Amino acid sequence: MINDLFIPPYANPAGSPIRELFPYLSKPGMISFAGGYPSPALFDAEGLSQAAERVFAEPAKALQYGPTEGSAPLRQALLRLSRDRGVACSADELLVTTGSQQAFDLLVRTLVQPGDVVLLEAPAYPAAIQALRLAGAVIHEVPMDAEGLRTELIEDTLKGLPPGAKPKLLYTVPTFSNPRGTLLPHARRVALIEVARRHGFLIVEDDPYGELTFTGATPQPLYALAQNEPGAENPVVYLSSLSKTVAPALRIGWMVASAEIVRRCVVAKQTVDLCTSPIAQLIACEYLQSGRYPGTVTKARDEYKARAEAMADTLDATLGARVRFERAQGGMFLWMECTAPVDPQRLFTTAVEEGVLFVPGAAFYSRVAKGVSMRLSFAAPDVSQIREGVARLSRAFDSSTSNIPALS
Ligand SMILES: Cc1ncc(COP(=O)(O)O)c(C=O)c1O
Repeated sequence: MINDLFIPPYANPAGSPIRELFPYLSKPGMISFAGGYPSPALFDAEGLSQAAERVFAEPAKALQYGPTEGSAPLRQALLRLSRDRGVACSADELLVTTGSQQAFDLLVRTLVQPGDVVLLEAPAYPAAIQALRLAGAVIHEVPMDAEGLRTELIEDTLKGLPPGAKPKLLYTVPTFSNPRGTLLPHARRVALIEVARRHGFLIVEDDPYGELTFTGATPQPLYALAQNEPGAENPVVYLSSLSKTVAPALRIGWMVASAEIVRRCVVAKQTVDLCTSPIAQLIACEYLQSGRYPGTVTKARDEYKARAEAMADTLDATLGARVRFERAQGGMFLWMECTAPVDPQRLFTTAVEEGVLFVPGAAFYSRVAKGVSMRLSFAAPDVSQIREGVARLSRAFDSSTSNIPALS
């Protein structure tokens, strides 16, 4: 009887393909390239516990409900942080959220109803796919290449829509994408904004990784570029997070968008969680005000750069021409495609037996994936674990590329 009560998206829902890998993590000695987890060695526990001490010195503030929009001093700190990235906005254009995941969920709640068309880069962040699916969106994928979203294909995608269908939004991670690690060039950024303006859809720019640059260079955020056009409405909603630079456990993310969008997301958030944990917000605010944040980010950039290089060098040395990948210029991920014939299920199973975990590429598509690919995160394991993990992966390739069983 209960099964008849669920609404269609929850009648038979698929869980997060990444979270389903969690049980493998408990295998002793497993090296995981799977999650987008920051390195625990980079958590500034001292700075955060000092911040927490200051917060608990005022328990009446720390332990009380707070405004749905977010605590005023944290919003000011996030306004400054956003402005440093070129994302300038006023207080009514910024909303603190429980992780940036919630920011996207709120947007989907306020913008998308079943049957609405949305555009999604492919491959895409799985939790974005999941949020859109649960909302009943009709997802149209726009392919990526080694430079990110292929903006020149958007018009073709739009031409392929049924008569009268118009996308509400396009979701992208233009700067050090999850999962491809790509950095969208300036010209494509300009083209994307132009096509969004022409067709009247929003661009959701998800930017949790932008500060983790290995070269020092990052193109301007889409939000900043779109803002430079005086008088024109900004079609970009900017999302970011402290998860990858400070700590995911804080669950502090934020949205920068027009006051009209923020106002509606505030109403949606009122029914979701009333407010983001005030303790976490105040700790994050104290931490940002303490002046430790820039040093923490610099340390993360240096460490992730070393890990990314170790992964790419070892992959080159062990797997060579059997795979294709681009060296990451920032972020946490390397996307690898197999050039030799390989049985993906056997590769995954053998890799787990060898003691290394990755996310199969299929998890990042809303439709059927082409070819055999995988996302490898270099953020959590250290350099020696990365070398050992790649050696294990290479052995898994050895036994999955020879004698591929015939498909029955
Ligand atoms: C592209 C992208 N967006 C959003 C998130 C969610 O981040 P948060 O911890 O802020 O909810 C992640 C986390 O992996 C991510 O990779």
